[in-house]
Amino acid sequence: MIYIKTAEEIERMREACDLVSRVLGEVARWVEPGVTTRKLDNVAREFILDNGGKPACLGYHGFPGTLCIEVNETVVHGFPSGYALREGDIIGTDCVVEYNGFHGDSCYTFTVGDIDPKTERLLSITKQSLYKGIEIAQPGKRIGDISNAIQTFCEKAGYSVVREMCGHGIGKSMHEDPEVPNFGRKGIGPILRPGMCIAIEPMINLGSKNVVIESNGWECRTRDRKPSAHYEHTVLITEDKPEILTTFRYIEEAIGSKVVNNK
Ligand code: MF3
Ligand code: CO
Repeated sequence: MIYIKTAEEIERMREACDLVSRVLGEVARWVEPGVTTRKLDNVAREFILDNGGKPACLGYHGFPGTLCIEVNETVVHGFPSGYALREGDIIGTDCVVEYNGFHGDSCYTFTVGDIDPKTERLLSITKQSLYKGIEIAQPGKRIGDISNAIQTFCEKAGYSVVREMCGHGIGKSMHEDPEVPNFGRKGIGPILRPGMCIAIEPMINLGSKNVVIESNGWECRTRDRKPSAHYEHTVLITEDKPEILTTFRYIEEAIGSKVVNNK
């Protein structure tokens, strides 16, 4: 069942999405060699609580973090840990905040110091693919049109699309209908209508598309252990152009001149 949000609900979605965006902006200030992923998780949790929100991932089906931590070959759902970031790493931080009963969901993949140019290009293409998907999200289009735009763009660039995880509807629940795959055919799936909110989140691998889930049932990494990138926005379908409810503005302000993937 796909929920169409009322004007008042949309206003609350905007607030939840602004908060999760500011959380990632705060996390961005801490990303540097030597910082543990647990520290980043603590920063995020405290920021959310200080601002009247709820860390929605923490305890969700037993998930142990506020952030999903995605270092290098980790695709999604990595646990915060004592691992200290190293120069050359990439780290995705995926966060969901609940605020006044609504959810905002966003993810950004950061670079730690200088990284391999091949990985840098993976990040740039993955981020661009997110906006390619968003651009399609207009009334009358179908979910498959978004999926196909992301897949086509990433595969043309030589990368592969993770199949096991998808974007999703979002609102009073973190995960609502419809599913938003990052691959598929044009013209299939639910029709987009004004008032729908969806989280679009390409997960793109440098090597093969195959992934492995660790024995803890959560942490997902590439089978070939090559890097994977992940960016996510929560998006509102309007009468015309989509409204991106989350923003990377706070992140990009925080990392300033360090931005290499801001194309
Ligand atoms: N952003 C992730 C998603 O889109 C968050 C879910 S992680 C969990 O599905 F830990 F909460 F499960
Ligand atoms: Co999501």
